[in-house]
Amino acid sequence: MNVLVVDDEEVLRDVLTSLLRREGHTVREAATAAQAIRVFDEEPFDVILLDLMLPDRHGLEVLRDLRRRDPTAVVVVITAYSSIEGAIAAMKEGAFHYIPKPFQNEEVVLTVRKGGEQRLLAEENRRLREELSRRRGLDRIVGKSAPMQKIFELIRLASPSKSTILIEGESGTGKELVAKAIHHLSPRAHAPFVTVNSGSMPPDLLESNLFGHVRGAFTGAIAHKKGLFEVADGGTLFFDEIGTISMETQAKLLRVIQEREFMRVGSTETQRADVRIVAATNVDLKTLVVDGRFREDLYYRLCVIQIAVPALRDRREDIPLLAEHFLRLYAAENGKSVRGIEPEALKALYSYGWPGNVRELENAVERAVVLSAGDAVGMDLLPEALLDPEEQTSRISIPEGGLSYREAVENFERRLVTAALRRSGGVQKKAAELLKTRPTTLHEIIKRLGLSTRDAGAQNGDLTEEAAAAKEG
Ligand SMILES: Nc1ncnc2c1ncn2[C@@H]1O[C@H](COP(=O)(O)OP(=O)(O)OP(=O)(O)O)[C@@H](O)[C@H]1O
Ligand SMILES: [Mg+2]
Repeated sequence: MNVLVVDDEEVLRDVLTSLLRREGHTVREAATAAQAIRVFDEEPFDVILLDLMLPDRHGLEVLRDLRRRDPTAVVVVITAYSSIEGAIAAMKEGAFHYIPKPFQNEEVVLTVRKGGEQRLLAEENRRLREELSRRRGLDRIVGKSAPMQKIFELIRLASPSKSTILIEGESGTGKELVAKAIHHLSPRAHAPFVTVNSGSMPPDLLESNLFGHVRGAFTGAIAHKKGLFEVADGGTLFFDEIGTISMETQAKLLRVIQEREFMRVGSTETQRADVRIVAATNVDLKTLVVDGRFREDLYYRLCVIQIAVPALRDRREDIPLLAEHFLRLYAAENGKSVRGIEPEALKALYSYGWPGNVRELENAVERAVVLSAGDAVGMDLLPEALLDPEEQTSRISIPEGGLSYREAVENFERRLVTAALRRSGGVQKKAAELLKTRPTTLHEIIKRLGLSTRDAGAQNGDLTEEAAAAKEG
């Protein structure tokens, strides 16, 4: 083991050093507090023997310093009988043990041995924690497509630094997952990962949430409150939907990023912020900048490193992999025996457009698993939208300028009838049965909508006269 002996009395140092060397340890010595810190910084030590009475500083302060540099440092304090309070204080500061002077050689040897074991254990724990962290990082992101490989590479490269990162991608592509992976692979993994839901808060509330506030800062501020910058100290602050924050808050955020400091709401005292900022957006920030709704300077500060997570439809190779992943996950969670997906269903999953990306796929698979009774997911368990390509456009979305209710309903009717006609090969009577309506009613609808059976995709004849007439009209 590597042992550091800190004592100002040369005779004592010599005794301890030769004793420990005889036990097979490697020993280095320090006579003062300053020297101790210097040597400690040069190489890793398993155990530190520390005299509390040092000429330049009190040993307790040295202990505190050492433990701050390395929270798992095993420090054994050596103290005179008369200063037993010192020993107690040292234990409170995280010393491993104390040995009263004059000491028995045997006691020193045994304590150092035990301290070394403790150190090994702590090291092992740290290693396990790191491994877990790594697993919580990349291993949770499923994907083998080329675009995802690139994302993994970017995550690995970007994690160790403190650079600000901007993650772009449509809703449900996995931006939050990427942000968490970056955190867990970074040296900040042991500190908190804190999410700021920028979109869901009025500006005032967002600011007091971010920066905290002092008592009396505003009505209702009855006590000091820590802000998220303080909560995330030493860790990562994840700004979800960064594009939605107000210009005012943007200015304050810019200041924190530039100066690394901020003020609590209602206070003039500056606070230091040691956080890494990761931001995500599903709108194009550049466009917001052009529109004057997002500060250009903040934009450039944020996108020091840019990660663009591709839409699921642009990496279809990942669909089967993701589907299997969610299948296993939800089967286990729901105690279901489903093991696989039927080829036809897999094909439908593969060719669908997934406007809601991975989240939509996850939901579809979860639903199928919950509804399943057998051991494979078939077409019947997949959402309607996957069955008919026509339906893929039927997701409800209201454009900025609004829409006509009547037209929207008519559009839906048109798709519905078209799909039914297609299914029935253009035979209206069959289509009416599918829609659980009378042929005359369906006929009227077809007429009203001005549908032709060509719209319905009928390939061959088998049309009623009326449909043929509608086709002409
Ligand atoms: N590559 C992936 N592997 C496994 N699960 C994924 C993957 N991508 C996304 N998911 C899952 O899909 C869901 C949505 O992901 P996430 O919340 O990270 O998306 P997002 O991009 O932040 O979406 P939004 O913009 O709507 O907030 C989560 O349940 C996440 O676990
Ligand atoms: Mg998100």
